[in-house]
Amino acid sequence: MSLTLPTIKFLKQPTSEAWVEQAIAHLDTILLDHSHCERKAAGVALNLMFRYPAREKLVRMLTAIAREELEHFEQVNQRLEQRGIALGPLAAPPYGAGLSAQIELAKFYRSLMAKASAPLWDILDFSNNLFRSPFGDRTAGGIIIVRKSVAGKSLS
Ligand SMILES: [Fe+2]
Repeated sequence: MSLTLPTIKFLKQPTSEAWVEQAIAHLDTILLDHSHCERKAAGVALNLMFRYPAREKLVRMLTAIAREELEHFEQVNQRLEQRGIALGPLAAPPYGAGLSAQIELAKFYRSLMAKASAPLWDILDFSNNLFRSPFGDRTAGGIIIVRKSVAGKSLS
């Protein structure tokens, strides 16, 4: 299926056709996830209103956001109802666990590096400058360089 994909101003990458095809194939799940997102957005706005009750301008803005997100929540829920889909929990997507594992790995290596000597800090800085890609790649690059340095191998 070939689609003309809309562009969204704040996205850094265009939406891939593969993602759109997956979304269409799992529209019920997408709608249920959307419902959760709208509810969470309204909830965050309300929580911030409780946290900063004296900040009038902020409370005004958050009131508008909470109202808008609740309207979205209601609209999405109407679509779910039309499709005969009950509101309910969704299984957590796998990317959260993957990201969490990356963060734990980064914490582990940071704790190792905290005990390391100054030259190893220089190596980590070098690796961070070398791998200017997303967090995981920098961490992986740093790990490879630290492994090589611990094993006494060349860094090239
Ligand atoms: Fe919304």
